[in-house]
Amino acid sequence: MVSGKNHRVRAVVLAAGQGKRMKSSLPKVLHEVLGKTILSRIIDAIDTVEVEHLHIVVGHEAEQLEAYLKKNPPKSPWTIHVQKPQLGTGHAFQQVTPALSSYYGTMLVLPGDIPLITASTLKALIDRHGQEKAAVSLLTTVVDDPRNYGRIVRDAMGQIIQIVEDKDATARQKDIKEVNPAVYCLEWPAVAPGLASLRNDNQQQEYYLTDLIGWAFSNKLPLASALASDWKEVTGINSRIELCDAISMLNERSCHHLMSEVGVTVEDFRSTTIAPEVKVGADTVILPGCYLIGDVEIGCNCVIGPNTCLRGPVKIGDNSSVVQSNLENTIVGNACKIGPFAHMREGAVIGNGIKIGNFVEVKNSQVGDNTNAGHLSYIGDSQVGSGVNIGAGTITANYDHLSKKKANTIIADGASTGSFSVLVAPVKIGKQAVVGAGSVITKEVPDMALAVARTRQENHDGWVKKKLSAAEKPKQPVS
Ligand code: UD1
Ligand code: CA
Repeated sequence: MVSGKNHRVRAVVLAAGQGKRMKSSLPKVLHEVLGKTILSRIIDAIDTVEVEHLHIVVGHEAEQLEAYLKKNPPKSPWTIHVQKPQLGTGHAFQQVTPALSSYYGTMLVLPGDIPLITASTLKALIDRHGQEKAAVSLLTTVVDDPRNYGRIVRDAMGQIIQIVEDKDATARQKDIKEVNPAVYCLEWPAVAPGLASLRNDNQQQEYYLTDLIGWAFSNKLPLASALASDWKEVTGINSRIELCDAISMLNERSCHHLMSEVGVTVEDFRSTTIAPEVKVGADTVILPGCYLIGDVEIGCNCVIGPNTCLRGPVKIGDNSSVVQSNLENTIVGNACKIGPFAHMREGAVIGNGIKIGNFVEVKNSQVGDNTNAGHLSYIGDSQVGSGVNIGAGTITANYDHLSKKKANTIIADGASTGSFSVLVAPVKIGKQAVVGAGSVITKEVPDMALAVARTRQENHDGWVKKKLSAAEKPKQPVS
């Protein structure tokens, strides 16, 4: 049915179901798997295959899904098709048919609950469909526990003749371990009559898309299948337990990839979470308890962890270490030492050779090379130069509670702030200027100047001795 290699391919994602078994107010497809929704993970795989159009069927919480897709649009041209009420997977596909009146080509169909699917498996199915010139092609896989899946029924010759849903299967059919991941290539418009002929005379009283397989067989249309050798890739998420399983399977996949393909040490992948988007350079070591999610890029020869959370966008150069810390929307240069217990966020950008030590928070600030902020500081809305020493307990007071406005602090190259100094923004500390410990700085400190803003120390000689001898004096008798 398919002519030539460059035949047209469109995709359909069926995402109208409520996902009752999740017991959630959130639509199933918007649950996250390692920092990205189930729906977006599926769309990413489809976008990689490069289809000419993506049809997304929504129904339950349709407005919420539409708003989500507008915010997180697929790369492929896409449209939404509303299915109300939801009468089954076949009925879901039927909602797309009005948009296919002038289309000739392949429809790649996916359920909205298989976030671990890869583009290479989708390509393999599309290729098989083309090579076999099939009208209907499907993935199949073999699982130990086939419960809840549709079973693939073959005849004595090994030819697929139908799919039987779990609820409709006979006792013998329930033993079949080859199951239906619900990923198909359907040749359009060859399958249109079959789609129109679906009936709902089954246990669930739904219009099953799976009945198209039996229809194609009975009508002697060419059927093909491709085996997904790794069942984990096509595992469907129906419950929180399956969500949890899918998360650990995807995590294992990304940790194994980093270890075997890139040369990264992940000391204990069972206690480490790494999303597939995370890029790590060779010879970096990831210690236990790390959580690396989103657009994260780590260079070579770094040590990350233990117990470090990097929530992208985060970029870390080469030869840096991040210990027991929390970073998001942050860029760190080469040879930096971060933590333990550092917090960097909202556009923190630091150069090379920098130390950000324990209980130091850096927010929306740029920090130049070889600057140290070793202990107990807050650096917010600041431009800090290079070679600066931020003394322990230095705080940039950047927020005016009454006006609700934030202001900037500039600390120029080579300056140093004494311990426990407060820099009340907007304020500038000049080049190589020194701020005395315990100062509250409210006006500009010129280059090379010393600023001291605290009361002078007074010593009262013998004060303690006087106090003590006063206490020892015999009390006057009461008259
Ligand atoms: C489906 C297949 C089953 C397969 C399994 C793989 C059918 C009848 N059964 O069963 O053979 O082994 O997937 O995981 O197709 N949906 C709609 N509208 C509806 C109903 C469902 O859009 O009216 C969507 C759901 O949102 C979901 C997908 O279709 O993303 C599959 O639905 P689900 O209820 O999960 O089907 P299963 O029972 O898992
Ligand atoms: Ca399912």
